[in-house]
Amino acid sequence: MAVRIALFLSLVLLFTSSTFAATYFEGLLPNGDFEQGPKPDQLKKTVIQGRYSLPKWKINGLVEYISSGPQPGGMYFAVTRGVHAVRLGNEASISQSIPVKPGSLYALTFGASRTCAQDEVLRVIVPPLKGDLPLQTLYSSNGGDTYAWGFRAFSKFANITFHNVGVQEDPACGPLLDAVAIKEFFPPLPTTENLVRNGGFEEGPHRLLNSSNGILLPPKQEDLTSPLPGWIIESLKAVKFIDKKHFNVPFGSAAVELVAGRESAIGQIIRTVPNKIYNLTFSVGDARNGCHGKMMVEAFAGKDNLRVPFFSRGLGRFKTVSFKFKAVSARTRITFFSSFYHSKIDEFGILCGPILDQVRVFPTS
Ligand SMILES: *[C@@H]1O[C@H](CO)[C@@H](O)[C@H](O)[C@H]1NC(C)=O
Ligand SMILES: *[C@@H]1O[C@H](CO)[C@@H](O)[C@H](O)[C@H]1NC(C)=O
Ligand SMILES: *[C@@H]1O[C@H](CO)[C@@H](O)[C@H](O)[C@H]1NC(C)=O
Repeated sequence: MAVRIALFLSLVLLFTSSTFAATYFEGLLPNGDFEQGPKPDQLKKTVIQGRYSLPKWKINGLVEYISSGPQPGGMYFAVTRGVHAVRLGNEASISQSIPVKPGSLYALTFGASRTCAQDEVLRVIVPPLKGDLPLQTLYSSNGGDTYAWGFRAFSKFANITFHNVGVQEDPACGPLLDAVAIKEFFPPLPTTENLVRNGGFEEGPHRLLNSSNGILLPPKQEDLTSPLPGWIIESLKAVKFIDKKHFNVPFGSAAVELVAGRESAIGQIIRTVPNKIYNLTFSVGDARNGCHGKMMVEAFAGKDNLRVPFFSRGLGRFKTVSFKFKAVSARTRITFFSSFYHSKIDEFGILCGPILDQVRVFPTS
């Protein structure tokens, strides 16, 4: 009990001290929406001239300053947030250093889309961490996909770099980046009532203004640096973080949508006592986003599992289900995925799926 009170007090202190630390950025990075552009003489057509010509950023290689709409050469770029974006050409990068708290967990949220090649990859680097985001799957019809990527701060500054690792025939080809924001996490701890951390997905990445398509949590994220605190994104494709403002969410202000069938799973490792029996309760439903049909969510805990059918008429319904499992070791992995693939009825080829919320594990008496 004393330990828990001490822990609680230190969390309160941590929280209050952080609310007064106004020097830390929350939300868009300085010029994170790229609305401040280079001066006209620092642009050759769309190509930025000089490493320091894009306000607040340092650039390397061929970086273009893009305005929303039709482009010379016949392409069309939709910039979802604001009217400007940057395009990273072959092996080009942009970077910015911002103050952070050593030891804290952060997530970057950014709008990114591919522009010509199928296999564009955006690398995010915050030394010593880096992650590669494959951009080949489009998750929204207007091209404005938003991603989140998490990292832990190791010093007082985080040098954030976005790098196009690709080499295409057309050196200008590469990902478009239209907004970059950051958020510090205060990851919830497990309790006796719920051994799952962040079981309601309430602690999640910054929601950019107008991210009405949800935020994609890229595949292969470890729980230590996950953009969804506590959770592991295990799969080959993204899981979508959705908010109450734009979607139906059964509980609280957020949930996740399992958008890529068996290729997008989400899980967590919880502490358990071997041979003890636990109850795993969770809710499945639809996000009221035009995703219809016969759905199935499969849940696994230790050696037990449950398949939960759900028929979606796109009405924003949900149901709560549960099963008991016996822990076989001191750590139990719980995992969820969608058995089937779904795409929106009104947007051909745009992936969608069942939603998951309010995941709870507790020992049965
Ligand atoms: C958000 O969307 C609205 C309506 O489409 C638009 O007027 C507004 O400029 C957008 N905001 C940003 C920051 O892009
Ligand atoms: C951040 O990293 C980039 C890319 O490696 C580098 O060009 C830049 O000088 C670094 N900035 C700082 C402040 O260390
Ligand atoms: C799990 O707990 C919930 C809430 O207390 C209860 O409604 C449900 O019946 C339990 N499930 C099982 C399989 O015992």
